[in-house]
Amino acid sequence: MDKLVINGGKKLSGEVTVSGSKNAALPIFVSTILAPGLNTIGNVPFLRDINTTIKVLESLGAAVEGNGHVVKIDTANVNSVEATYDLVKTMRASVLVLGPLLARHGRARVSLPGGCAIGARPIDQHLMGLKALGADIHLTHGYVEAKARKLHGARINFDMPTVGGTEHLMMTAALATGETIIENAAREPEIVDLANILNKMGARIEGAGTDTIRIEGVKEMSPVCYEVMPDRIEAGTFMIAAAITGGDVKLRNMKPEHLDALVFKLLDAGVEITNKDSVLRVRCPRRPTAVNIKTRPYPGFPTDMQAQFMALMCVADGASVITENIFENRFMHVSELMRFGADITVEGNSATIKGVKKLSGAPVMATDLRASASLILAGLAADATTEVSRIYHLDRGYESIEKKLAALGADIQRVKE
Ligand code: UD1
Repeated sequence: MDKLVINGGKKLSGEVTVSGSKNAALPIFVSTILAPGLNTIGNVPFLRDINTTIKVLESLGAAVEGNGHVVKIDTANVNSVEATYDLVKTMRASVLVLGPLLARHGRARVSLPGGCAIGARPIDQHLMGLKALGADIHLTHGYVEAKARKLHGARINFDMPTVGGTEHLMMTAALATGETIIENAAREPEIVDLANILNKMGARIEGAGTDTIRIEGVKEMSPVCYEVMPDRIEAGTFMIAAAITGGDVKLRNMKPEHLDALVFKLLDAGVEITNKDSVLRVRCPRRPTAVNIKTRPYPGFPTDMQAQFMALMCVADGASVITENIFENRFMHVSELMRFGADITVEGNSATIKGVKKLSGAPVMATDLRASASLILAGLAADATTEVSRIYHLDRGYESIEKKLAALGADIQRVKE
């Protein structure tokens, strides 16, 4: 297993190019099931989760060819309707194939994903929506078995804005007969990106990016070429890397408007951010001041940036309170951050962080994807050496993070254990 060795204390400076979005690419890959033929997807990040999605599509009969950041997916021969436990357990988003397979073949059998490190993460809202579209659903032997002679439009009102649920239902309803209205829909930019590719394939979707999405079902959809949006969470992580090291970093290939909630909080903390021609410059000449955050569905502060922001607050001037409202168990990084000398107390879903002047490098262990990023950020700011082990989580969602950080002047190396 690989680990990262970081000699902290270097101010980051220079330019970094943000990769394509993992969370947009995953449903976009799945959406190709709806458009039989050769789809070409560009700006794809090199990540383990992308490989897993490719394996899922191949197991269904797709022919996939990768060439750099461009992936060609031929879904003409997607004839299998089963996604097995082996694949779904390694990546929850695989469950999104259920609806598209059902829409295309009238039946599907997909493993239930189970819980994960950050919480129970049920898929009841996905299944409620599929049932409303006319699917007959049974849970047997750990699998969801779904059948539908013909899917039809329906009015769906989610209990909470779920990103995966909104994507799943949008894809499935695209090929149902009649109109579907999704209320209390999630509004994340990745949902807009998915609606854009679906519409390019011939779907008729309006309102993606708002809390009410209307989908007029179409009979068939055709393959397309499409570019994935930039990864806002990777961009946000580099912004905090600049801030936590007192650096000066420019970010390219990103959409600053996707990061408004983070930008406001960083400005509040005294970080200097300027946007010129969509190149974002992040500078932090002084110690940041403590600010409070509460995670919320988009456009609120993203839960996927909570751990990284906490790393920054560990060295801020003053005390901050971070409240996690999306996932019930997303403070796994706290005990690891305390190994750096951070002063954090957790009560329920709130953490109080009293900033310290300096963190001290330590051996730590990554527990999930974004928690891993927070440990790297702490290591960059800490004195002496930090070793982050179990970084396989990181390879799921950050493309060449150590190379990108090293190019900005960080002293960071991947070492085989
Ligand atoms: C997606 C993102 C993930 C991000 C999360 C929240 C992908 C691949 N992953 O995950 O990085 O952290 O959005 O922004 O895009 N819920 C239910 N029942 C359901 C569905 C969700 O109770 O059927 C709950 C979840 O447990 C969670 C909340 O709703 O508490 C939000 O989850 P959701 O938006 O669905 O997250 P994901 O789509 O799984």
